[in-house]
Amino acid sequence: MKLSALVDRISGEGADAWLTHYAAQAAVARGESAVVLSVGDPDLDTPVAVVDRAIEALRGGDTHYTSAGGRDTLRAAIADLHTRRTGQHVEANQVAVLSGAQNALFVASLCLGGAGDEVIALDPMYTTYPATMEVCGAKLVRVQQRADQDFRFNAQAFREAVSPRTRVALITTPNNPTGVTLTADDWAVIGELAEKHDFWIVADEVYAGIAQHGHVPGVAATLSHRVITVGSLSKSHAMTGWRVGWLVAPREVIVAVEALTLCMLFGLPGFIQEAAVKAIGMSDMAENTMRQYCTQRAQLMASLLSDLPNIQFKLPDAGMFLLLDVRQTGLSSGDFMRGLYAQEKVSVVDGAAFGRATEGFVRLSFATTPELIREGCLRIRRFCAGLSHS
Ligand SMILES: Cc1ncc(COP(=O)(O)O)c(C=O)c1O
Repeated sequence: MKLSALVDRISGEGADAWLTHYAAQAAVARGESAVVLSVGDPDLDTPVAVVDRAIEALRGGDTHYTSAGGRDTLRAAIADLHTRRTGQHVEANQVAVLSGAQNALFVASLCLGGAGDEVIALDPMYTTYPATMEVCGAKLVRVQQRADQDFRFNAQAFREAVSPRTRVALITTPNNPTGVTLTADDWAVIGELAEKHDFWIVADEVYAGIAQHGHVPGVAATLSHRVITVGSLSKSHAMTGWRVGWLVAPREVIVAVEALTLCMLFGLPGFIQEAAVKAIGMSDMAENTMRQYCTQRAQLMASLLSDLPNIQFKLPDAGMFLLLDVRQTGLSSGDFMRGLYAQEKVSVVDGAAFGRATEGFVRLSFATTPELIREGCLRIRRFCAGLSHS
């Protein structure tokens, strides 16, 4: 039977890059000694007080329908967190609670774009972006960041990408996979173009809470009428599986989002929202813990890979990933990923899955235990040594 045209738009390019990740996960589940360095899901537990709050709410019977856009207490807590991070003062009714940042990005796409529109995004980009931005019928326009500029914001390429059809610029800061954080100067270019050509800015800031000082430069405070900020508890609070995310936007957008959530999500479970309020109340502690965790593990991984003759890398500004430049190994990044898994059972992600700019790079997550980082790096070293002898 025929499926819809939308299904074609969402059946992701780059899906092959995840086959190695799935194989490694399945191997671990079978008790084999695979090392998964392919996902940004920290091995930290959710703070006990947050879990306790969820259980308490569940036992208290908080198992009924909730309002579509989120409970007022949670919206107010998110508004407060957002104000502290961005300097933009917002009310609770400018927040919509959604099922993770991924859901918020999907909702933003459906509420902002449509056939004939273009959405600009920085390449390399998070792997779900193409399908998420094109699901609404818009065309994704990739702005190449350059490897020889350490994937820093490419202002000229951004300028050239803007057209009369530009409807949205989707900006990820800090970026996944590069770890690059945009500077105030970068934002000045984006903001000026957005004002001149009248397009929306969607700022995906899921890693902002774990950046240095817990925030990153942005234009939410100065261009509040056209900025939509996407965030979640996944990364900053070690709560990936809770699926709590949000979108902060002008009220007119939130009204549209509420209408969409009514026919799509119908609100997050109440006990999850109660736990989220608790988690946000503990943000300083949770973010400090995660920041230290990331710094220590990034340094550990870097120290274990630093003297490999055919591999280069730089530490990220923030985030959970190290990008290894494997171009001098003589392998494509796809072959490096597959060869490393076949020989050493270590899963990494082929940079090509994130876009053209990161072909020749592989992404390693350091959001795992020090033991697994050590074991994974030892195996990577053995694999690379084998390459230089062959
Ligand atoms: C840049 C970026 N945006 C969004 C997401 C989705 O996060 P969430 O778990 O909040 O849906 C991720 C997850 O890795 C990400 O890296």
